[in-house]
Amino acid sequence: MEKTLSALRDEAMVCRACRLCETRKNVVFGRGSEHPRIMFIGEAPGEQEDLQGLPFVGAAGQLLQLYLDYLGLEDEDYYIANILKCRPPRNRDPLPEEEQACIGKLRDQVKLLAPKVIVCLGRIAACRIISPDFRITREHGKWFDRGGMRVMATFHPSALLRDPTKKEAALLDFKSILNEI
Ligand code: URA
Repeated sequence: MEKTLSALRDEAMVCRACRLCETRKNVVFGRGSEHPRIMFIGEAPGEQEDLQGLPFVGAAGQLLQLYLDYLGLEDEDYYIANILKCRPPRNRDPLPEEEQACIGKLRDQVKLLAPKVIVCLGRIAACRIISPDFRITREHGKWFDRGGMRVMATFHPSALLRDPTKKEAALLDFKSILNEI
């Protein structure tokens, strides 16, 4: 029988499948609607997310929120999660074994939430969800079919904070979501 989202969350809260459990302050399971049309998937919790136990609540999250507000999306429209549920020390890239240990939880979340659309935020999510050789500079904004869902990747909000010249392209990517939902 399929587990409920809250059973999945309870399991994740005590997960010790990789070494990130030794350094995390909180498990960052996900937040948002339980019947979302859109699921946003980032890379891994940062410092603020680790402290608060919620995804995308730091500077990158504030920028993401601006895009969501611009599109007129409401809380009930989307769910936000990450490839990893625990913060890698000093925000380093996830290790392959950490992704491997964690990805099943995300798969279960996607299955239960059954969004119409998945938007990968940044290269790490795109490589895991769309294709291992995904090139974000060349392929951002393109829509793919995966497992009965429409899937797209755009720049990670942190990358947009580092390089604001990409913000306009990201806005077009975000706007294209409205045609898919
Ligand atoms: N960056 C991510 O990829 N995820 C978060 O939750 C926060 C920052």
